[in-house]
Amino acid sequence: MEAEEAKKKVVFSAVKPTGSMTLGNYAGALANWVAMQSDPSYDCFYCVADLHSITVDVPPAEFRKDTLDDLATYLALGLNPEKSVLFLQSHVSAHAELAWVLNCHTQFGEARRMTQFKEKSKRAPENVNVGLFDYPVLMAADILLYQAELVPVGQDQKQHVELARTIAQRFNNKYSPTFTVPEPIMPKVGTKLYSLQNPTAKMSKTDENPAGSVLLLDPPEEIMRKFKRAVTDSDTCVKFDRANKPGISNLLTIYSVFAGVSLAAAEKEFQGSDYAAFKQRTGEAVCAFLAPVQKEYKRLIADKAYLSQVMKDGAERARRMAYKTLSKVYRKVGFVQP
Ligand code: TYM
Repeated sequence: MEAEEAKKKVVFSAVKPTGSMTLGNYAGALANWVAMQSDPSYDCFYCVADLHSITVDVPPAEFRKDTLDDLATYLALGLNPEKSVLFLQSHVSAHAELAWVLNCHTQFGEARRMTQFKEKSKRAPENVNVGLFDYPVLMAADILLYQAELVPVGQDQKQHVELARTIAQRFNNKYSPTFTVPEPIMPKVGTKLYSLQNPTAKMSKTDENPAGSVLLLDPPEEIMRKFKRAVTDSDTCVKFDRANKPGISNLLTIYSVFAGVSLAAAEKEFQGSDYAAFKQRTGEAVCAFLAPVQKEYKRLIADKAYLSQVMKDGAERARRMAYKTLSKVYRKVGFVQP
């Protein structure tokens, strides 16, 4: 039994609780998290990456709500604390501790090249804090602490996972093998959902135009309204063509993910359909998928005692693994053991 356990591959991933989760978070990451937790050859760790949220200005009450909402949404989507370790990043201080060590093994130029840093610092020039710059190193610490081999993420996080690989390899070469070198896992369909209002920009929790992002907790009327107003094109044909028909391609992708059909089947289903009917059906598919999730979320968010228990158990299990890695790292770099 133990030998079998030892062979399990560790899966790690996280969502940052800034704003409410979108269809993109599910399509790019959480759909895979749920699928991977049912595979007995994986040991899954899923965290709410709250330390990452304070790189931008967040009102504390809102931040607290978003954090608990994300945990309840993980559970409502089917993540099961019996199968996966579910926890809050700030409950395991080893994340911040390892991040410091990794900071000293990351080149300034490497961090400066991160696309998200460049974009975010352009978007909020008044608050380009050191945490924003350092964020990918903290993310590397998250992953490497658990010796994760597989990191299910959407396309926008691929570059960060690659940085984690670089840091792991550098550390392993400098000292001796310490970290598992992780690799990103991305879905075939839905690795990047786009804004319904600007289908060449990523659908994001913090979009200036809220009509572009559909939130997992949006009420059905709101979801239908957003799909009805989704930007399409002046053509009339429902066909997947990312370069020339970004709006329609995005909607087809969303339909494929939330109706649970292939892209080809979705395309066939809407052959000859007009855009209004296609948008209506896509909205309905999303609402049908989300109805039981939202119902379960409402039940869970009212049960604070249960959420606290899940967090507490998860943090204990996460800490065991995390401190094993951290003490190994401390020994290798030469810190005197207490
Ligand atoms: P975050 O919170 O921005 O996004 C969480 C996950 O959702 C994916 N995602 C998308 N996928 C498809 N289409 C979209 N429009 C879309 N928007 C977001 C992201 O790729 C991600 O997988 N830094 C991370 C959180 C994090 C993390 C980690 C992830 C912290 N530590 C360690 C993996 C491993 C973040 O801000 O993701």
